[in-house]
Amino acid sequence: QDLGIVAVGFSGGQPKPGVDAAPAALIESGLLTQLRDDLGYRLHGHDAVHSFSDVVPAQDPPHRGMKNPRAVSAVTRRIAEQVYRHAKEGRLVLTLGGDHSIAIGTIAGTAKATRERIGRDIAVIWVDAHADINTPETSGSGNVHGMPVSFLTGLARDDKEEFFGWLTDEHRVSVKKLVYIGLRDVDAGEKRILRENGIKAFSMFDIDKHGIGRVMEMALAHIGNDTPIHLSFDVDALDPMWAPSTGTPVRGGLTLREGDFICESVHQTGSLVAVDLVEVNPRLAADTDLGAHETVRAGCSLVRCALGESLL
Ligand code: ARG
Ligand code: MN
Ligand code: MN
Ligand code: MN
Repeated sequence: QDLGIVAVGFSGGQPKPGVDAAPAALIESGLLTQLRDDLGYRLHGHDAVHSFSDVVPAQDPPHRGMKNPRAVSAVTRRIAEQVYRHAKEGRLVLTLGGDHSIAIGTIAGTAKATRERIGRDIAVIWVDAHADINTPETSGSGNVHGMPVSFLTGLARDDKEEFFGWLTDEHRVSVKKLVYIGLRDVDAGEKRILRENGIKAFSMFDIDKHGIGRVMEMALAHIGNDTPIHLSFDVDALDPMWAPSTGTPVRGGLTLREGDFICESVHQTGSLVAVDLVEVNPRLAADTDLGAHETVRAGCSLVRCALGESLL
């Protein structure tokens, strides 16, 4: 199968430097070679790690409380174009981030391409400790990596092109086609948004209660058979024991095996159209025993599972 690769070293959706170094670290550890040689994918677009620094403005004061709003808007717009081009060709698209703001681009790109190509709306499985559904107004931090889902669902909007005004209906996804897995650190305003919009969410409580096998059955049942799926995986969904090198770690998370199982289950549907792996920050926890190595290794494992490595 053909696999489009979009490697984006972008960190402007949050304040900690280092998450921009993740694509290179993942690639250096052999991820793309494994996908090509062991899993048999034909790779496209794998020759470059993009920073899109040409579209990042020198001056970027806050807008509606959002930090680096022009940069995040311009970079995600570029990502949307690249992902769209791969998906329009019928390629599965793998995006290596970067902070989670980049999902504004990846999901916008697959949503549009999938509508044009097969006339279907995509579903999104968002695996994360966080809901990332703050609007600029509910956000306490102003960091756009905590807001991508609100822009993608249209809960947040801005008329100005330079502040995500380029997003149109063809890029958006319905709140009904969104499922969360792994939540455990959700802001009060976000909880209200989830409740008021009836958004399907499986928190760590649900995983403890039902087990990951049952949770995946319920999550996939909610989406419905045969719906194209975009999997957006924030590495901080994993417990910091497995993924310490990330900007906003939260204890009490998924084991590596539970994370891999989520990815395998999604692969097994045969409906996967895109995968994002985000928030790996090789500069953080680098001083601990295994340091960033473990987190990079966990990230590679998740991607390989999503792309079908462990299915016999
Ligand atoms: N809810 C917090 C915020 O809005 C944290 C978001 C963390 N997001 C992430 N992609 N790691 O800032
Ligand atoms: Mn997160
Ligand atoms: Mn996230
Ligand atoms: Mn397969």
